[in-house]
Amino acid sequence: MATTEVARLSELQEATPVRVEVDGVPVCLVRVGDTVKAVHDTCSHQQWSLADGMVWGNGVECSLHGSTFDLDTGRPSSLPAMTPIPTFAVHTDGDTVFVDVDVATNDAPFPEH
Ligand code: FES
Repeated sequence: MATTEVARLSELQEATPVRVEVDGVPVCLVRVGDTVKAVHDTCSHQQWSLADGMVWGNGVECSLHGSTFDLDTGRPSSLPAMTPIPTFAVHTDGDTVFVDVDVATNDAPFPEH
């Protein structure tokens, strides 16, 4: 599947996670400055939506038990999650943000959702 238009950069607020669905895959978008990070929205611990959480620096914290996942590597930096989450390629063209869920930028397993 090709890259998919998912958002307008101007409508994304800094450090505020947003859930979108791309080809059936839940994706958590986070604006960091003029760039956008995209990770699988499902926490690898107990399948909670990461877009319900908060952003701390370059990580998104799961609101259920507090594990924080790095937005670039997908790795959890705190328990109870121990498994990384997929991270996805993002590009922008002007104000338009695109994500390709077929191009994971790490080798994390896809969580069930
Ligand atoms: S469901 Fe996310 S840390 Fe438990």
